[in-house]
Amino acid sequence: METGDGERGLRRADTCAAAGGTEDHARRAEAAEVASPDVARHVSAVFDAGDAERARLLALFAALPVGVVLVDARAADLPIVFANAAFSALTGYPVPAVLGRNCRFLQGPDTDPVAVATLRRALAAGTGCTVTLCNYRRDGTPFWNELTLAPLRDTVGQVVAYVGVQVDATARVEADRQRALQATVLDATAEGIYGIDHAGRCTFINPAAAALLGYPPDVVIGRDMHALVHHHRRDGTPYPPDACPIHQAAAGGQGVRVADEVIWRRDGTAVPVAYAVQPMAGAASAGAVVTLVDVTERARAEQERAALLTRERAARAEAEAAVTQRDHLLSLAAHDLRTPLAALIGEVQLRQRRLRRGRPLSVKEQDAFLATLHDLLQRQVAVVSEVTDAAYLQMGERLALRVELVDLGALAGEVADMLAHAHGAGAAVIDVAAPTGVVIVGDRDRLARVLQNIIGNAVKYSPAGAPVQVSVRPEGDGAVVVVRDVGVGIPAGEIDRVFTPFYRASTARGVAGTGLGLAGARGIVAQHGGTIALESAPGVGTTVTITLPGAEGAARAS
Ligand SMILES: Cc1cc2nc3c(=O)[nH]c(=O)nc-3n(C[C@H](O)[C@H](O)[C@H](O)COP(=O)(O)O)c2cc1C
Repeated sequence: METGDGERGLRRADTCAAAGGTEDHARRAEAAEVASPDVARHVSAVFDAGDAERARLLALFAALPVGVVLVDARAADLPIVFANAAFSALTGYPVPAVLGRNCRFLQGPDTDPVAVATLRRALAAGTGCTVTLCNYRRDGTPFWNELTLAPLRDTVGQVVAYVGVQVDATARVEADRQRALQATVLDATAEGIYGIDHAGRCTFINPAAAALLGYPPDVVIGRDMHALVHHHRRDGTPYPPDACPIHQAAAGGQGVRVADEVIWRRDGTAVPVAYAVQPMAGAASAGAVVTLVDVTERARAEQERAALLTRERAARAEAEAAVTQRDHLLSLAAHDLRTPLAALIGEVQLRQRRLRRGRPLSVKEQDAFLATLHDLLQRQVAVVSEVTDAAYLQMGERLALRVELVDLGALAGEVADMLAHAHGAGAAVIDVAAPTGVVIVGDRDRLARVLQNIIGNAVKYSPAGAPVQVSVRPEGDGAVVVVRDVGVGIPAGEIDRVFTPFYRASTARGVAGTGLGLAGARGIVAQHGGTIALESAPGVGTTVTITLPGAEGAARAS
């Protein structure tokens, strides 16, 4: 298709392309003037218009800052007969290299066949159209070509030529793609995301954020987000906008992450959220983007973890306490039980030596010795019983009660006598007020031990000569024993703990005791179906009330 004229024209067009490759409009117009006469000859075959008009049209095309080609509609395969400098700049092809060719040489592997089919249909119909399709430059790089075709007709309406206008749409298509990508990401992400302007008004919101806040997006756009969803703190106190990190970031402040605030849904409920706020890049106070996630589940899991930890700690403390108590029991067995036995052995050996030396004991001495032995052994038995009962109770096991009818008043009297004898003169004075016939069903030995403990404590912690009042009275078919002293008393904060095995009240320092007495007493009374209550005040005294049920209550308990 290239003729001698064409060659000339091509060379000139080449010059034109080189000159017009720049954005310089004036130079391109000048080049067009040079190109026009030759191009006009090419075009003359397809234009029936006058020379002057053709020249003006071509000069105009040549000078346009967008690509323009003219193709011969009457020649086979629509050859290019004119291309301007902007087309050359856009595609990288010198004008002479394209004259005589069909424009499809710009197409390549990523050119959308649907767009090409649209062009084909328009050309077949003799109409114009606009498509944006992928084309390739001479160096193989792709670009987006927004192509508009328009037919030129002669005086009888016959299409004699087509004008094609090519605009580089790469930036727009990329921006559209970017926007579409962003929109897809925003739609797809499970994180709530919204944007605000410098004044805190919503500029966009993704579906996850809209769902989290409970508002349709169109209701939120343009609204003051702080006033809408962030107005109060978790505790219900107002959240001033100036103190809000989101507000501050949007007004030119720093990006920040916040882990534990709430946002308020449209239905008025508060949702615990973690959010990050990032000021928009660019000008200060250009607004900000907020991402937020509902941390209800996380908060619940954390609470559960904390509760589990607390339970674990409590269990560990309990296990450690059990070990400590076992150690106490062992040391008690080692010392409190061994030491008196060693003393006993000493006493016995002393008498043995006397006998061997031929100095027998008198009857009176023998009697006194045996009484001492009996007394000591009985006390040992009591301590052993106390310790074994404590061990059983500690393990949560029931004591094997040996029940019989027990006259509580008589028992209290016996215990009082025994204690008075043991403590001797210079101790507190026990006064028992008990009618006869207050009889319950119970384990006599163990109830005696309970009374020994309670009345014994009253004596131990009272000054010499102070009264210890013991009263026994019937209640229903059971009984109530009250032991009242005016001794040292127990501080209020310790009253609950005195029933704990091995706990000894601060006021008990300097007074011998295992720390098992009250714990064991409570366990024994509980196994009889009864209760022990203790009221006390330091310097005022202590009152212990033991309530024991009748035969029915005891049967229920055992
Ligand atoms: C005036 C004119 C300019 C054209 N410019 C381009 C162009 O820049 N890029 C392109 O891919 N196709 C362009 N075409 C379309 C192709 O030349 C061709 O018509 C299209 O590929 C459909 O025909 P085909 O199926 O024979 O290839 C242009 C067509 C005409 C008439």
